[in-house]
Amino acid sequence: MTGTGLFLTFEGIDGSGKSSQARMLAERLRDLGHDVVLTREPGGSAGAEEIRRLVLEGDPDRWSAETELLLFTAARRDHLERTIEPALAAGKVVICDRFADSTRMYQGLSRGNLRDLVDQLHTLMIGREPDLTLLIDMDPQTGLSRAKGRQGTEERFEDFGIDLQQKMRAGFLALADEFSNRFRVIDGNRDMDSVALDVTDIVLQALR
Ligand code: TYD
Repeated sequence: MTGTGLFLTFEGIDGSGKSSQARMLAERLRDLGHDVVLTREPGGSAGAEEIRRLVLEGDPDRWSAETELLLFTAARRDHLERTIEPALAAGKVVICDRFADSTRMYQGLSRGNLRDLVDQLHTLMIGREPDLTLLIDMDPQTGLSRAKGRQGTEERFEDFGIDLQQKMRAGFLALADEFSNRFRVIDGNRDMDSVALDVTDIVLQALR
């Protein structure tokens, strides 16, 4: 299926504020009359939300990196088939909080280098990149404090600590260079409204 809509993703380390930015952008675009689907990963479809619980809850060492990669990819395939592709085919703007770049980082880098495996599986089972990716870049310690401040059960990754946050931040910036055609890096170390203004500017340009 080749859609005519626009596929936007937000990426960043835990606590970067990307989820709030995704919500604010969705509201802004709806106010301007766009048909918007706001979704997230892992999740975004009934089956993928079930897989979300398997990967985000429980012990940090509950899954090997390889098993985890298969679970995230299964969730993404379901999300793509049932939510993303139909919306794009209908000409909608899809805003997704995390997508394959998060797998390239978290499963690809956090425990050894599995990036080749991640890319191979992506080519086989997903085969689609966003039209535009907004990386909300954030100081790792600030991000971690914010993420820890949110009480909840989804803390498998937050449990990995500051070292992981630092590695992920550097990894995301490198990824933005690698895919410079679709990535835009936004300084997230500012108040939410200033960040949101930059986000809106970039997206409105892409929509033109
Ligand atoms: P998310 O719900 O975006 O949490 P936050 O709002 O705190 O950023 O993502 C939950 C966790 O899932 C996050 O720590 C990163 C991880 N994740 C992966 O490891 N691989 C993936 O492919 C995706 C989409 C997320």
